[in-house]
Amino acid sequence: MSVSFLSNSQLSSEFFPTLQSKLKENFALIDSYIRAAFSDGCNRVEEAMLYSILNGGKRLRGSLVIETARLFNVPATISIKAAVSLEALHSYSLIHDDLPDMDDSDLRRGLPSCHIKFDNATAILAGDALLTWAFEILSSPEWQVNPNIKLSLISSLATFSGKHGMIAGQMLDMQEEQSGSATLDSVKNLQHLKTGQLFMYACQAGCLLGNATKQETESLQTYAKNLGLVFQIADDLLDIDGNSSATGKPVHQDTKKTTFVDLMGENQAIVYANELINQGLESLEEFGDKAIFLQEALKFSLNRRY
Ligand code: IPE
Ligand code: IPE
Ligand code: MG
Ligand code: MG
Ligand code: MG
Repeated sequence: MSVSFLSNSQLSSEFFPTLQSKLKENFALIDSYIRAAFSDGCNRVEEAMLYSILNGGKRLRGSLVIETARLFNVPATISIKAAVSLEALHSYSLIHDDLPDMDDSDLRRGLPSCHIKFDNATAILAGDALLTWAFEILSSPEWQVNPNIKLSLISSLATFSGKHGMIAGQMLDMQEEQSGSATLDSVKNLQHLKTGQLFMYACQAGCLLGNATKQETESLQTYAKNLGLVFQIADDLLDIDGNSSATGKPVHQDTKKTTFVDLMGENQAIVYANELINQGLESLEEFGDKAIFLQEALKFSLNRRY
C-alpha cells in the first residue's frame, strides 16, 4: 500500500475518522483524569503544571498508549494512568524545550510558553514536577495492574525518556546546533532519540499492559520508531511551511538547526517519510483492522498541519 503527501483539503476528519474520534475520546479521558488529580487551591508550581498540561495538545502519545493496549483488549479504564503519565512527561519536555537556554520559544499550544506566562524558575520547577508526577502516577498502589508490569512500565519510562533516550536526543540537538556538523545519520539518530523514544515508550507501555508476545512487541516498536521519524520530519516541514495559528508554536524557529529537510530538500524528505510510513504500515499487518488507529496515526503524522 502506498501513501502520498496529501493536500490541505484532504485533512478533514473524514480523512482520518478513527484517529479523529479516538483522539477526541482519549483527550476527554486524559483531561478529566488530570483535572480530578489537582484539587482547588493549587500552589504556584501546580498552577504552572496545569497551565502547561491542560492547554490542549493532540494527546497523540497518550492515545497511542491507550490504543496499543486496546489491541490486547486492555480497556482505557486501566491504561489511562500510563497515558496520563506519558502526557505529563511529554509536557515537561516541552516546557524545558521552550526555555531561553534551549529553543527560546515564546509560544506553545497557542498560548505564551510556561516561562513567559510564569517565569524561568517556575517553568523549570513545573517541568521537574510534571516529570516526577509521571512516576508517582505509575507507582500508585491503588492501580489495579500486576506489580511486575508496573515495575516494567516505570523502568521503561525512565529508559526511553532518560540519558540514553529523549534527553540524549535533546542534548545532541543542542550540540549540533552549535557545531553545525550534522549528517543524515546524525540527524536520524538525534530525531529518533528526541522524538522517537516517547512514541516507542507509548507502544511499549501498551504491549506491557497487554502482555504482548515478543514478536508483537517488536512489530509495534518498529512501527513506533518509524512514527517518531515521520512525526519529526513533519515537524521540521511545519517549521518551514506551517502556520503558527495552526501549529500553536512559532514557525521559522529552527533556522540554526540541521534537519532532514535541510539535508535532503523538502521533496526528498517527503519521499523518505513516505517510505517510513509504508514500512511502518507493514509492521502493523499482523494486527489487521484492529490497528486502524495506529495506521491512521502514521499517515496523519506526515500530513498534519498542527
Ligand atoms: C511536539 O509534539 C514536540 C515534538 C516532538 C515535535 P506534539 O506536536 O505532539 O505536541 P502536542 O502535545 O500536540 O502539543
Ligand atoms: C522537541 O523537538 C522534542 C522534545 C521536546 C523532546 P522540537 O524542539 O522540534 O519541538 P517543538 O517544535 O518545539 O514542538
Ligand atoms: Mg527542541
Ligand atoms: Mg522546540
Ligand atoms: Mg520543532
